This record gives sequence, structure tokens and C-alpha cells, in this order.
Amino acid sequence: METQTQYRDVKTAVATVFKNASLPERAILRQEGEYWTVGYGANAFRLKDTKGLAYLARLLRHPAVEFHVLDLAGGIAGQHHDDETRQSAHCLPRTDEYLEKAGIHVGGLGDAGEMLDDTAKAAYRRRLSELREELEEAKELGNVERAEKAEQEIDALTSELSRAVGLGGRNRRAASASERARQSISKTIKSVVERIAQSDARLGDIFSRCVKTGNFCSYQPDPALEIAWELDAIEPTEHPTSSSEPAPARADHPQTSPAVLEVSPFSFAARTAFVERESERSTIRAAIDRALSGHGSVVMLAGGPGVGKTRLAMEMAEYASRVGFRYLVGHCYERDEPFPFLPFVEIIEGSLAEAASLDDFRRRIGDNAPELAQIVPSLRRVFPNIPEPPDLPPAQKRRHLFQSVSDKLGRAAQTRSQLYILEDLQWADESTLALLIHLANRVAQLPVVIIGTYRSGYSENNPALVRTLEELIRMGIRPLKLGGLSKDATAQMLHGLSQRQDVPESLVSLIFEESQGYPFFVEEVYRHLIEEGKVFDAAGQFRADVEIDEIDVPENVRLIIGRRLERLDENEKRALTAAAVIGRSFSFKLLTAICEIEVDELFTIVEKAQQMGIIVASSEGPARPFVFTHELVRQTLLAGISAPRRQHLHAGVADAIARLHTDDVSERTGDIGIHLTKADGHSAPPARPGSGRR
Ligand SMILES: Nc1ncnc2c1ncn2[C@@H]1O[C@H](COP(=O)(O)OP(=O)(O)O)[C@@H](O)[C@H]1O
Ligand SMILES: [Mg+2]
Repeated sequence: METQTQYRDVKTAVATVFKNASLPERAILRQEGEYWTVGYGANAFRLKDTKGLAYLARLLRHPAVEFHVLDLAGGIAGQHHDDETRQSAHCLPRTDEYLEKAGIHVGGLGDAGEMLDDTAKAAYRRRLSELREELEEAKELGNVERAEKAEQEIDALTSELSRAVGLGGRNRRAASASERARQSISKTIKSVVERIAQSDARLGDIFSRCVKTGNFCSYQPDPALEIAWELDAIEPTEHPTSSSEPAPARADHPQTSPAVLEVSPFSFAARTAFVERESERSTIRAAIDRALSGHGSVVMLAGGPGVGKTRLAMEMAEYASRVGFRYLVGHCYERDEPFPFLPFVEIIEGSLAEAASLDDFRRRIGDNAPELAQIVPSLRRVFPNIPEPPDLPPAQKRRHLFQSVSDKLGRAAQTRSQLYILEDLQWADESTLALLIHLANRVAQLPVVIIGTYRSGYSENNPALVRTLEELIRMGIRPLKLGGLSKDATAQMLHGLSQRQDVPESLVSLIFEESQGYPFFVEEVYRHLIEEGKVFDAAGQFRADVEIDEIDVPENVRLIIGRRLERLDENEKRALTAAAVIGRSFSFKLLTAICEIEVDELFTIVEKAQQMGIIVASSEGPARPFVFTHELVRQTLLAGISAPRRQHLHAGVADAIARLHTDDVSERTGDIGIHLTKADGHSAPPARPGSGRR
């Protein structure tokens, strides 16, 4: 301990000697219109304007001064750098108006704190689309009671969602304005520091060490490192001239919103480094870059399940976010009856959930509201006074509807470039695909990129998709077909998965052959082999004698998953099957309540399932902290039990939700209804005392 302190002292002394002997290092953080020049020493680069940069500049201008977050927010909203010095560092908190201007929505409701959480909103949206399916299905079956239940919950969720975007509301306790400002500003500063670190690791390091965030934020200069900062903003330049970040200038579409990385559906902890796909990446990057100058396009990604379509789309969404885009994802789902425009419904609801305020959203949809509300009925619940659409003949009606959607997207893109990801179009209905074609004809004049993913080989089952793909080809849009990864890339994935560089060639070859380079299979085969103890010897070294005949590799991925699940003991299988019945994501609390397994053991099971890569920590918020790594895994678990057992479990889930949510059970009726429907008359076992049951 003492030697460490001495060492640190010596280091500081040496640094001070050097510091005194040399000139201060030059650094720059300067706004030039829409861009900032950021640099350290000889390295300089440009970043799009974001609030985070403005916060940093303000802190740097006043070294060691502690700014209260509300003051910091107010100062940036006002953007008066010159009069800052007159403000005391510990100003009284500003009004909500200041925060609004700074983009921190408080909406005067005093209850939005937790509701503003993006991940919670994502969970709400997901739930809403499940409910819509439920509603459709119930209507189809003429089950009025079920339909009403679904509708009730849709109502409840929609009003939750609207509270999340700022409509005043009920007595939900929430963080104070300053707590919300603290969270928001810390996040903003951290993400801008991360962006800076990507271009200059030393500068990133300086900021992460010296910029303190919390209720008070400050820049505490490192005494061992003298830096001469250049901070004065200069007048906007027409076109940025150089950029080391791959962020091309967008001359005609000003970007006003910050380019903060948005939540990815992949858990960062769980995913390995992205490999290969260079040509697809550069094609999509080029499309994104072109869109920045107002010339958008559609990109279609095709390939078998597990080939990596979603992952590639998400990697590109991250790139797009970095260069200033906002991205929204809409899914199609496998179902008997199509739900019109479903992915667009998700996208529009997503943009509602992310809107700065309801008024703002309402303004933006303007005259198109009646048509949009036809596609997204929940809009009428949020904005009850949307007028009825004009009564037009069907063909005209559709054209009018499509025009309204493209108007809305066009308007959204005026403030910020947009990337829309339409997932799993093999399940899309005709209306969704017709709208896609309509938009494909328009995006060339908009800063919008649409990425559509679909399973090739499956598309033949969907004649509307076949026609759409033909039409897109006529328009010059050829799908990018993803195949398996190369052997080198498979090896890289294995390095990532094993966290080791010395993966033997024999193992790479084996897994490459068995997986055909399909990344999902690579992951699954690798995990299977690990669990079988085929990969490492007793000393923890790679076994040299992995042979194909010894391994008895399963033939396809379902089998692989099945085999991996066979490794679970009875209780583990029971617990995870129960989790699968709850849904794609689930909470520990609910799982405890429906499993006849002691909490301690359940903890161990959940941990083991995480280690095995069956589930991962989700990004869907505290209500659903775990998510199955792939739908195939969940389905395989469900397929492993009989229908009556599954129904029995659904009844148990419905019952448990009701017991766990006695306070707000009315808000859970939809959830409960869905499980009861799936229980199909089966009853729940009697509850045991406490949260679980026996
Ligand atoms: N290029 C890649 N590099 C590393 N991992 C990948 C890559 N592509 C996909 N994966 C991983 O493979 C799995 C399946 O990918 P996913 O995108 O879900 O497939 P798809 O959408 O085609 O069914 C995921 O765990 C994903 O993280
Ligand atoms: Mg996918």
C-alpha cells in the first residue's frame, strides 16, 4: 500500500518536472455551427453538435467549478456562453422551462421519472403489439370478453405510454426534476465522452478521469497535465471541411437532435464482437451516408434464420446513430391472420414514445393525423380529437393513407435523419409490403434509410413478399443475401466466445463445417461442445484430440439446442420452461411465484442459464430483466412439454400476476387475460404462502 502511494508520488513529481520543462499540451473543443472540432495534440476530428459537447465545453471553461445539473441544463438551453461567469456555480435550481429548452422533459407532471426510461417504453411497445395480436385473434374468434379485456389493457398501456411522453397523470411517485436532470446529463456527458474516446483514446481518458458527473458536475483538471484549451465557438461554416469521424456533412437537412447511441436489443454484455460482413457493411454505410445528404434508399437483407440479419441491421443502426440518425424498429410476427401495417404501427408508436412531448408529436403529425390513426388506432386514445378521415373510395383511400405516412416520415426526417428497420418481413402482410413499395419510391428525396430483413427460403410462403421483392428489383433494389461466415470469421467468433487466441485449427474446422458459418449455429455448437467437455482438458487447455466422430455433432440447430437443454436437470428444465411460458422476457419475481422451487435454487438456475447462454440480461427494464437469447431456444423449451402442462402453467402465470399486483391489478388485466386464454380453462394450482407456491 505504502509503496503504491510512494510510487504515485514519484510519478506525480516526475510528471510535474516534465510539465514545468515543457509547454502545455494544446487541446480544442470548439463549436463551428453544426459541428465541433475536437482535438488533442496533433490529432483533431469533428463531431456533430450535441448537447453533451456543449456541457463539456461549459465545464472546461470553468475548471474546478461545480455546476448544479439544473444550472448546467439551464445554461445550455440558454446557450449564452458569455454571461456564464456572472452566474454562481451553485445556482438555485432552474425552472422546468429551462429543462424543456435543454431537451430534458419534465412536463410539470412530477411523475415521469421512471416512465422516461427508454427500456420501459420499449417493453410497453412490445406489450402493446402483443395485445393487438390478442385483440385481433379474439375478434376473429368472436370472443367479445377476450377482445374487451385486450382493449382495456391497450387503453391502460396507451395512457401509460402517453404519461411517459409527458401527459400529466396519476399518483406515481417519481424522481425530482433535479434527479431526472442528473440522470439525463450524466448519460449525455458519458456518451459524448465515449464518442470522443473512439476518435482519441487519450482525450477520452482525460475526460473520463477529470469530468465529474452527479448532482454537481465539474471539470477537475489533472494537476500533472497542463492543457491549453481552445474553446471559443466560431461562426457556423457552410460545410465542414474535414472529418476524421465518418460523418459526412449534411448541408440541406440540419440535425438538431443529439446523436446519442440508442438502446440496442442485443445485450452488450452477451454479444461477442461483430465479425466480417465488410461488403454488406460498406454498402449499407454508403446508403446511410447518401441519406445524410437527402438521398435515402431501401436495403433488403436476406438469409436463413441465425445468419445474422438482425445483428447486421443493429450494427448499422449503431453506425447511423453515431452519424446523427434516429432509428426505430418495427417487427412482423408469425401469425395466422395478418395485422395490417404492424411494423409501421410499432414505428409510429415508437416515435410517439420518444417524442419530446405529446404536443410536439401532435404538431408533427399535423393534418395527417386522421390517416395515421387509421393505421395506429391507439393515437385516437392519446389524441381523442383527431378528426375522422375523409370518406373516399377504397383505392383512393389507400393512396391517401400511404401519402400521409410518407408525409409523416418526411417531416420527421426534416429535423433528424431516420433509419427504419423492418424486421422479419417474411411474415409481413400485403398492406405492410404495399406501403414499403410506396416508401421505396419516395425515399430517394428524403434523408431516410429503410432496412428490411427477411428469411430467404421462407419468402416463397408469402406471395405478397415475392411480388414485393420483384417490384423492388425492378426499382434497382437487389437484396443483400447473407450467407455463412468465412472460416476466418468463424475463428474470430470462436476467439471472442472462448476469450482466447489459441483456438486450435481442428476445432475451428469442426465448428465451421457443422455450422456452415452461421453465427447463431457457431455459438450454439461451441456452447454444446463446451458443455459436453469436448473442448478443454482437465488443465483448462484446448484439447488437441477433438475429432469429428468423437463428438457426434447434432444435425441441425434445433437438435443442438435440444441437446444442450438435455444437460439441464429436472428442476432446471422446469424452471426455464416456466420462464418460457411467461414470455420472451420475464422477471425473477414472477418466475419465483409460479415455480415450485425454492428461491435459492432458482437463483442458481437463473445464473446457470445465463452462463449457458440460454438467457441474458435484457435491456427491457427492471420489470423484465431476463430474456431468452433466441426465440428458437424458448420454442424448443415449450415444445418439450405437453399441451395440458403448458396450459396449466399459463393458468399459474395468470394467477401469479394477479397475486403479485394486487395494487395495480386493473392495469394487468390484459396480461392476465392473455395467459388465461392460453390456459384454455385449466386452473391454477393453489397458491402457497409467500410469493412462491408449493
Ligand atoms: N457478424 C457477426 N459477428 C458476430 N456475431 C454475429 C454476427 N452475426 C450474427 N451474430 C450473432 O449470431 C446470433 C444470431 O444472429 P441474428 O442476427 O439474431 O440472426 P437472424 O436475425 O438472421 O436470425 C446472434 O447471437 C448474433 O449476435
Ligand atoms: Mg432476426
